[in-house]
Amino acid sequence: MAQLVSSWSKGVQSVPKDYVMPPENRPGDFIKVCNEIPVINLQDDRSKIVPQILKACSEFGLFQVIKHGVSDKMMADISDLYDEFFNMSVEEKSGLYSEKHDEGFTLYTSGMNYTKEDVHYWKDTLRHACHPLDEHTPSWPDKPARYRDEVGKYATQVRKMGSNILDLIAEGLGLNKGYFNEISQDQTMVVNHYPPCPDPSLAMGIGCHGDVNLVTFIQQNQYGLQIQKDGIWMGINPIPNAFIVVLGYHIEVVSNGKLKSVEHRGVLNSTAARTSIGTFMSLNTNLPVVVEPAKELVSSSCPKKFKSFKFNEFIASYLAFYLKPGPRNGTPLDAYRV
Ligand code: OGA
Ligand code: NI
Repeated sequence: MAQLVSSWSKGVQSVPKDYVMPPENRPGDFIKVCNEIPVINLQDDRSKIVPQILKACSEFGLFQVIKHGVSDKMMADISDLYDEFFNMSVEEKSGLYSEKHDEGFTLYTSGMNYTKEDVHYWKDTLRHACHPLDEHTPSWPDKPARYRDEVGKYATQVRKMGSNILDLIAEGLGLNKGYFNEISQDQTMVVNHYPPCPDPSLAMGIGCHGDVNLVTFIQQNQYGLQIQKDGIWMGINPIPNAFIVVLGYHIEVVSNGKLKSVEHRGVLNSTAARTSIGTFMSLNTNLPVVVEPAKELVSSSCPKKFKSFKFNEFIASYLAFYLKPGPRNGTPLDAYRV
């Protein structure tokens, strides 16, 4: 069994050899925090925020939202819950550890391929499906004792916010308001925990990647998330009680390239654990969903920029792209461009 970083890293004085990234994959110096990324108040007028969101999605593939309907208290409680979870004893956590990624619930460390990696990421991850709740809660952890109850309520609230944001994006694109919500949506929680690292310049929390799904909503408690814009890495300022909205490859395809997905990564720090609580919304992978640009966004003056493909196939080629050893070129989306 691979060892969770949260179980062995307390008090370590140097980065173990198998966590030292090759120089080209290290965080590098002089990463600036980007202050131009829009912060959108979801209680503002629709006529004001729809264009703001569209602009953010086409320029950055990412924005932050405040006044989003998930209460400050709920966000604080869930943050405490996950701190408690990752601080449980080695014995308690090892009972939950699993490297089987097709199961309802997994707790694993580093990437999805620990045993085959040359170098590991300084991160532990908990992942489980959330929708429909009744179907999935029995596979969730029951430690801390309040886990299922609290995470269930949180997942419901975040889903409401997420559906609202997807409606705003659909409206901005000129699609039916319910365009993204019409196909039943999967909702998955991915909680990444990054313990303090004795030398954050040598190791990495999560490597450069794009998300495969429609959108991801991230609650974070510390600086660490960075995005790549025009080939340059920039930091995302953590605003208290905000969610970060990250656009995935799927929504870029549906929008026929009007919206951009964003490559991102997570760096470490030496003093405080960072926990990012992610909610991934995607179309239901069990449906024979075809991924393609929305017909409404294709015309003779704006031809189809992506081929049509089955979502399941796309997920398989996405995983193969990131699991392949050696340097990477481009993104998993490149194979689908017309
Ligand atoms: C992810 C992700 C961001 C973070 O899980 O896909 O990008 O800060 N998470 O952990
Ligand atoms: Ni991501």
